[in-house]
Amino acid sequence: MRHLMSPLDFSVEELDQLLDLANDIEAHPEKYAHACDGKKLATLFYEPSTRTRLSFEAAMMNLGGNIFGFSSAASSSAAKGESVSDTIRMISCYADICAMRHPKEGAPMVASAVSSIPVINAGDGGHQHPTQTLTDLLTIRSLKGRLDHLVIGLCGDLKFGRTVHSLVRALARYEHITFIFISPEELKIPGYIKEDVLEAQNIPYKEVERIEDVMSDLDILYMTRVQRERFFNEEDYIRLKDFYILNNKKMKLAKEDMIVMHPLPRVNEISVEVDKDPRAAYFRQVQYGVYVRMALILTLLEVNVC
Ligand code: NCD
Repeated sequence: MRHLMSPLDFSVEELDQLLDLANDIEAHPEKYAHACDGKKLATLFYEPSTRTRLSFEAAMMNLGGNIFGFSSAASSSAAKGESVSDTIRMISCYADICAMRHPKEGAPMVASAVSSIPVINAGDGGHQHPTQTLTDLLTIRSLKGRLDHLVIGLCGDLKFGRTVHSLVRALARYEHITFIFISPEELKIPGYIKEDVLEAQNIPYKEVERIEDVMSDLDILYMTRVQRERFFNEEDYIRLKDFYILNNKKMKLAKEDMIVMHPLPRVNEISVEVDKDPRAAYFRQVQYGVYVRMALILTLLEVNVC
């Protein structure tokens, strides 16, 4: 039995197969409409989420399966003091697979150690968010036609943004990727990612503060929200929250075929005027998220559709 804790749990070849499956689902959704008939997905969300939870639920419903779960710690037995390990042992008796989001780094890993059903990490604190990364990889491969030879700018809260941490690890495995980290001093990418992932493999990167200085170099611009809930004080958040606002003026500096991605939710970092720009890919990214979660559920449940 397999779980998904980190995007690196799949080899590059396995990832290719998963993304191929997601593209096939996109092309022939009817083929998969009953692939999970009679199966149940539990969504255990100890931290708020709209997109990820609903995306998992839509994915399972598109496969003909059923869903149940909770959407906040307050509405689960965690409020009575139940441990994650006990909860997952109990859920294992009800469901065939589960997706867990938790504010504590490593909680889904603890669950997977005692679970008898596949556990998917749907985001653990500021650590990782592997299914967002699968979504991002599918979006990039589908819209740019490749996962190598890319210059990717990651902009915003690179310190607390778990989607960034997971995506950098995942893209670091492909040839000729250059990372440009765009952030204020206080929200720089953590040192352990630079040292353990990038410098250890001689992967080129640079860190800048002004988006305008690098815009014309980018194949992909990955915008992120300042992660208010992970700040220690509100004043710092208020000072930094509108540091970057992508607008049409800045988009003029970018390549014709650059794409703008964002894991969403967006706050102010992308002005709504950019939504009409054909290079804005963030809503298409949401749709890819459903296809890739369908592919992931099929893969972890070992369901083959011919
Ligand atoms: C992201 C997350 O939860 O980390 N959202 C998501 O899953 N699409 C990004 C964010 O909350 O800013």
